[in-house]
Amino acid sequence: GRKSVIQNEPFADFTKKSVREGFPEAIKQVRSQCGRVCPLFINGREVLTDDRMDSVNPADPSEIIGQVCQAGRAEIDMAMEAAGKAMASWRDTSPEERAQLLMRAADIARKRIFELSAWQVLEVGKQWDQAYADVGEGIDFMEYYAREMLRLGTPRRMGNVPGEVNEYFYQGKGIAAVIGPWNFPFAISAGMTSAALVTGNCVLYKPAGPSSVIGSTLARIYQEAGVPDGVFNFVPGRSSVMGDYLVEHPQLSMIAFTGSKPVGLRIIEKAARVQEGQKQIKKVVAELGGKNAIIVDDDADLDEAVRAIVYSAFAYQGQKCSACSRVIVLEPIYDKFVRRLKEAALSLAIGPAEDPANYMGPVVSEEALEKIMQCIDIAKQEGSVLVCRDDLDVPGYYAPLTIVENIRPEHRTAREEIFGPVLAVMRVKTFDQALEWANATDYALTGAVFSRSPNNLEKARKHFRVGNLYLNRGSTGAIVERQPFGGFNMSGIGSKTGGPDYLVQFMDPRVVTENT
Ligand code: NAD
Ligand code: ALA
Repeated sequence: GRKSVIQNEPFADFTKKSVREGFPEAIKQVRSQCGRVCPLFINGREVLTDDRMDSVNPADPSEIIGQVCQAGRAEIDMAMEAAGKAMASWRDTSPEERAQLLMRAADIARKRIFELSAWQVLEVGKQWDQAYADVGEGIDFMEYYAREMLRLGTPRRMGNVPGEVNEYFYQGKGIAAVIGPWNFPFAISAGMTSAALVTGNCVLYKPAGPSSVIGSTLARIYQEAGVPDGVFNFVPGRSSVMGDYLVEHPQLSMIAFTGSKPVGLRIIEKAARVQEGQKQIKKVVAELGGKNAIIVDDDADLDEAVRAIVYSAFAYQGQKCSACSRVIVLEPIYDKFVRRLKEAALSLAIGPAEDPANYMGPVVSEEALEKIMQCIDIAKQEGSVLVCRDDLDVPGYYAPLTIVENIRPEHRTAREEIFGPVLAVMRVKTFDQALEWANATDYALTGAVFSRSPNNLEKARKHFRVGNLYLNRGSTGAIVERQPFGGFNMSGIGSKTGGPDYLVQFMDPRVVTENT
């Protein structure tokens, strides 16, 4: 049987020959499928559109990963109608049956973990180990939310008065739009869609443009797991064409969004306006960006701190909401730390994710590259460059790994999310000043502290106000159920993913009272 605490999927173990060989084989096999037309999936069948977008390999943009059909308003209407028809019956399907759908989907993904990882290597430039971990996290979400629904699906008796029985239970809200980011292209989409489905909602899922083909693999998994027609619909599309239309649709009940602050705020605003014919107040769950800091105390273990900071800042090219973009260093240890950080950063191998020897690869798109280059220009004006790895001469969207020191809290480099391999180093005199600077942004997602002082760790626990704080560990890599994940302030208005309060956001509670 399945335990109530999930067994998290293990990371890729490259000491095993099967894992070392599994990757190149899967990449070869996936590559043979690249360039195909990728249809929408509405009401249980594939739908082709004339408008198509090429999704490309960021390490070599001449390689087309898929020609992705783009949903316009007509396709959104079609999917909304199908979801509307399927809703009544899916909402009243038992929680057990809905949970079983997720468990079947998890089993399918587990069997295909190499193939699903290989799509990420090619479509979004994710390194082998991290692609594998992303698919593993997606499987964890499905397993965890399935169990959570079994827990929440049993009606609760409230109060204890003779002659009266009060039953408290939940129902799905209706139709959910799930709008995902490209950076954890399987995990986050699998998490949001599985939560919406298991709680009894019908779903219109829009992946981010750069990870649309990966999005289609998720659609195929639900299809194979036996999702009823109309319950899950895959509608990739241009946000400029169908983004607002989807969010403003009067039949939509809720939006589960993970992405940037500006887009999240726009969605919250649009969803708040009631449209003609709309019967429900829309709920928005929004997980947004971060400007995460790691504090290095004067007694920190520098071997551990440098390794963890390099990983938190530059793994997957810094394209994680949880990535470290500010390191705040105590003066007594500053010179020693910075010297070692610089050496570590200069030693990293950079190149395509396809070659596991590379630590860092290209950023996801030309648009992302342009934005990061502008941020690097600003960082260079505001601080002094410690490292700028701009010596690479290969095709692909490579942003130079950049470390800039002498950054202060008022600088843009210390306040705005860059979402690339750019790290600001800030020097402070005291641990209290470090905490003050760490908190001096509008975001509150992750943070970390390296210190051996119990007193300072205790201070951080109380006053380093972020959603996920790590003591003597890097700031990335939350694990489902063990580290429920998410922030507050400008980092979001959702409850933590992979945590005990997540599913209730997708449901309306009801109470039935009977006098007996
Ligand atoms: P993005 O905001 O550009 O896009 C996210 C999604 O919104 C995409 O699917 C996009 O097509 C869609 N979109 C864009 N405009 C829209 C509109 N007007 N209406 C409806 N949908 C629209 O973000 P991204 O570049 O895909 O992802 C990176 C961002 O996501 C970063 O800011 C990162 O911090 C954040 N993120 C947050 C978390 C978290 O858990 N807090 C996790 C991962 C990523
Ligand atoms: N959950 C992801 C992490 O913790 C974003 O890195």
